[in-house]
Amino acid sequence: MRVAAAALPPIGLLAGGCSLHVPVLQPQGPLAARLAEHIWLFTIVSAVVWLLVMLALAIALLRRRRRQQAPELTPDPDAERRIHVVIGLAVAATVLVLLVLNVNSYLTDRALLSTPAEEPLTIHVTGHQWWWEVRYEDPRPDRVLTTANEIHIPVGRPVRFKLTSADVIHSFWVPSLMGKQDLVTGRENLLTLIADRPGVYRGQCAEFCGAQHAHMGLLVIAQLPAEFDAWQAAQLRPAEPPSDPLRQKGQQVFLSQPCTLCHQIRGTPSGGRVGPDLTHVGSRRTLAAGALPNTPGNLAAWITDPQTIKPGAHMPVMQIPSEDLQALLAYLEGLE
Ligand code: CUA
Repeated sequence: MRVAAAALPPIGLLAGGCSLHVPVLQPQGPLAARLAEHIWLFTIVSAVVWLLVMLALAIALLRRRRRQQAPELTPDPDAERRIHVVIGLAVAATVLVLLVLNVNSYLTDRALLSTPAEEPLTIHVTGHQWWWEVRYEDPRPDRVLTTANEIHIPVGRPVRFKLTSADVIHSFWVPSLMGKQDLVTGRENLLTLIADRPGVYRGQCAEFCGAQHAHMGLLVIAQLPAEFDAWQAAQLRPAEPPSDPLRQKGQQVFLSQPCTLCHQIRGTPSGGRVGPDLTHVGSRRTLAAGALPNTPGNLAAWITDPQTIKPGAHMPVMQIPSEDLQALLAYLEGLE
């Protein structure tokens, strides 16, 4: 599963048409690099073996054609010996190739599963149709942070993901940083990754999980430790109460609509847990799990007509008068 991950282009990325292009075959962390080395070794060795087999086949076919034209030969002890040597060498080469590939496979697996030397940051990711719930674990309950679809991590520090699902099987895949790992209901799968340098890395659900599987993207944003700490501190704060009248009206609209049944904005009475936490939705780069860049226009489209953007998504169509919608957009986009 993990091995295949590094080599294949993400279909969701190609089909999704996301403007955020990330070269998926360039590893951006030590574990991803180990995986990439492994896949390249397999690819190169297999290619060489294939070429040699094709070459041997071509030579055999040519010699057979020549022999058919020549008269029947009497057994030749020298030729027999040569054939035995060639077969012996071929068997030895096959054993050697299998041994090298198997040992490398074993060592790579060990390296990927090894316990990191440094205490990892633990992030619990739950797959939902069709978005990612992200919870930063901490021994202190007041430092547990819940967000969605955008995962910030500090550069250089191991990050351990605990993966589970709320419904069907999904697969967590951030190609630049690590191979795939499934998210399964009632199970906790582990995946550790390290980002070498700051950057924005596109992730994608890699297991068909229903109509909007292709629109189940995520972003991993690797930041310098100080920047990460600042981000985490800001995200831990509840939403600022709106100060201007438009945003105050927007908050009233949010709280009076069915939004609160599914979404939470910490610092307000809303406490829905069915959909993404919106406490700092304005700070995120995308909407609807990577389906749209986060702009007021896109947010308006997503609120009023989600079924055109993601048919089958659990976000219902909202009938909101235009003035209320403007206030709601100002409120939500201001939640940074
Ligand atoms: Cu979730 Cu595909």
